[in-house]
Amino acid sequence: MLQNKKILITAGPTYEPIDPVRFIGNRSTGRMGIELTKAFLAEGASVILVLGPVSMAVPEHPQLQVVAVETAAQMFNACQAYFEAYDIAVFSAAVADYTPKHPAMGKIKKTEDVLVLELVKTKDILLEAGKCKKPNQVLVGFALETENEVAHAQQKLLKKNADCIVLNSLNEPGAGFKHATNKISILEKNGRIINFELKSKEAVARDIINYLKNYCA
Ligand code: CTP
Repeated sequence: MLQNKKILITAGPTYEPIDPVRFIGNRSTGRMGIELTKAFLAEGASVILVLGPVSMAVPEHPQLQVVAVETAAQMFNACQAYFEAYDIAVFSAAVADYTPKHPAMGKIKKTEDVLVLELVKTKDILLEAGKCKKPNQVLVGFALETENEVAHAQQKLLKKNADCIVLNSLNEPGAGFKHATNKISILEKNGRIINFELKSKEAVARDIINYLKNYCA
């Protein structure tokens, strides 16, 4: 059922340059998005994986195109090119919400006692994709929350016009960054919440794919 569907996936962190040697990043490993990529490919789908800087290997596959990016702006530009054409988009990347306004051209020297960095908001890729989503396109967001998880994720679902949100909590032992396991809930627009057990990210990816197969049926 996912055979020949066009899938757009974002994964990994973004690195926002402070100067030529330093950046603002986060602890995302990209594993969840890479496991999703493998699971979609196993179903016969074609995948465009827009991938931030990660050390995990991505398998080569004739139906897979990997677009390597570094910053949130590059990730946005890379995704925008595919907004028209995807059947299912899954945005699992941990995109920086803020980026330095004026990255220094040269390495910043340790001259000041206090250094203030001015940050500006990045473009929200999921929000922009939600604005131009067509009725036949399925848009899946992720949410990583530390408090009021369900309420915050539900707000994101509505605000960003996604079809569903995959929620993972940093409060769950074994879930989120750094771990090979994850515990998710899928939140739908109609208020339904589907809870899953803690399992490997490979198995979580299969759960998400099975959910999407039903959703698209
Ligand atoms: N997202 C995105 N582009 C951004 C920020 C977030 O596409 N610039 C996407 C993420 O990939 C994820 C969803 O939006 O699918 C939610 O991301 P999250 O970081 O949990 O939420 P934010 O919208 O950034 O809100 P907050 O940081 O206030 O929780």
